[in-house]
Amino acid sequence: MVEQSDELARLRAENWRLKHELAEQRERYQSMLDNELVGFLIASFELNRFLDTNQAYCDFLGYEREELLSTDPYQFWLNTTYADDRDAELTQLQRVVAGETSMYRLRKRFVRKNGEVRWGELSYSAVRDSQGRVRYGVLTCADVHERQHEVEARERLQDSLFQAQKLETIGRLVGGVAHDFNNRLLVIMGHADILQRSANQPTLAFHADIVVSSAKRAAELTRQLLAYSRRQMLRPQAVDVNAVVEGTRRMLERVIDEPIEIVTVLEAQSPMLADSGQLEQVLMNLILNARDAMPEGGRITLQTFDAQVTELAPIEGLAPGAYVALAVVDTGSGISPATRPQIFEPFFTTKEIGRGTGLGLASVEGIVRQSGGSITVVSSEGQGSTFTVYLPRASAEPAQVALAPSNAPISDYVPCRAALETVLLVDDQDDVRSLLAEVLRLGAYRVLEAKNGVQAITLAEAHGDPIDLLVTDIVMPGITGVQLADSLRVRNANLKVLFMSGYAERDSLRVLQAHEQFIPKPFLPDELFRHVNGFLRAPQLTP
Ligand SMILES: Nc1ncnc2c1ncn2[C@@H]1O[C@H](COP(=O)(O)OP(=O)(O)OP(=O)(O)O)[C@@H](O)[C@H]1O
Ligand SMILES: [Mg+2]
Repeated sequence: MVEQSDELARLRAENWRLKHELAEQRERYQSMLDNELVGFLIASFELNRFLDTNQAYCDFLGYEREELLSTDPYQFWLNTTYADDRDAELTQLQRVVAGETSMYRLRKRFVRKNGEVRWGELSYSAVRDSQGRVRYGVLTCADVHERQHEVEARERLQDSLFQAQKLETIGRLVGGVAHDFNNRLLVIMGHADILQRSANQPTLAFHADIVVSSAKRAAELTRQLLAYSRRQMLRPQAVDVNAVVEGTRRMLERVIDEPIEIVTVLEAQSPMLADSGQLEQVLMNLILNARDAMPEGGRITLQTFDAQVTELAPIEGLAPGAYVALAVVDTGSGISPATRPQIFEPFFTTKEIGRGTGLGLASVEGIVRQSGGSITVVSSEGQGSTFTVYLPRASAEPAQVALAPSNAPISDYVPCRAALETVLLVDDQDDVRSLLAEVLRLGAYRVLEAKNGVQAITLAEAHGDPIDLLVTDIVMPGITGVQLADSLRVRNANLKVLFMSGYAERDSLRVLQAHEQFIPKPFLPDELFRHVNGFLRAPQLTP
């Protein structure tokens, strides 16, 4: 009896010790789990429920422990997995269930209970029974949100660095070519134009005419490449965007056929800071693209509005600030997701050969970015497209239309009067200079020619009478055209200057001042006349 009761007491004590030890172990296990920085979750396949989790996992997803454990595992997975990342994980999970593998690792986006999205790196392993059936699924998960963001930021930075380097290289190449090419085109166009006007045989005039129009097309190509590489000559000023839209619309009515209706919704209140000529180019390109997307007809809506970019309402590529937007909305074919990433690439086109060069959007983006703006696209197949251009808001009011050079062509270079204003013409290319000198003399100007800045200064000093107009190339060896103008102004503060250039060399530019104009190379003799005449022979308001 005594022996039996001793044995009983020993067993009780043993039982109590074991229970105590078990409780201690459980506590140690739980605190170990909860002290882990890595999230943990175990599920029973048989019972189709979660068995256990830890604090790190609850914190990561923003759930209470009891709530998490009592949710159906599949439902919980659906709720906490970002929709775009579900397929990738399901494929892995199916391989585990099929017995092809026992574990997988995955970086995916989790959705927290409050809807916030966070990157996590998970590792999942299956525990099987002797028949190979999955009994438990064990998941561990690390919060890699910050790391993922750093990686993405670094990738973005590298990408934009690469883009910048690419543009810099292309820009240098295009700039170098454009400089020479535009001088060549100027000479070709100028001489062909003179030939055309003086030819008394119709065939000769016909051929000369083809030379001129072909050279014009080549000039357009260089202009687009320059725009793409952001080396266009830009003259940003306060522009009334609504007026530009109205003007372009009127101009385009001739190019766009009946089944396309053009609607305007002009709500912009503020002036835009832009080069109005380039803005017209941008708008024209977008409208022609919209037209091409609607072969069966449709509607183009041109919309303007003021836009405020803030950190809470960001727009890609724009610093916070005040902008004016110009949107071109069409009801056309839309853009497929496969095409979308390429539309701004130069020479990318889906149009048949001969219809598009693929430089339209490339040059549009170049102009917009060079002007401190951005362009966005919203489109889906069959649903039409919306291209929205954002450009900075101008602080000043748009200038009233200044003495615009007359648009009337100067017919056949007949000297209109005997008065001889003196023009100092500077260009380092001999054939360009002698062509322009010939043209100006035909227009009854007295022309002094210089090969470079130093020669021009000497010539100006030696010439006793005042010089009425300086016509100078900008990019020249030695002194640039801009430096030349500044140095001649020391003696003659009111000197009028007409700059010419085939492209915008960085640092050779500055904002044009009063008494200054710019004409992009190449140009026809008529265009030179229009500028020079508008400048020197404009009707004076005072008697
Ligand atoms: N509004 C639009 N709707 C549908 N697709 C468009 C639209 N705008 C542009 N695209 C697509 O983007 C491509 C590139 O446009 P982009 O203006 O650069 O070149 P393009 O119009 O083909 O040729 P280019 O403008 O040089 O004559 C087009 O070929 C077309 O596939
Ligand atoms: Mg186009």
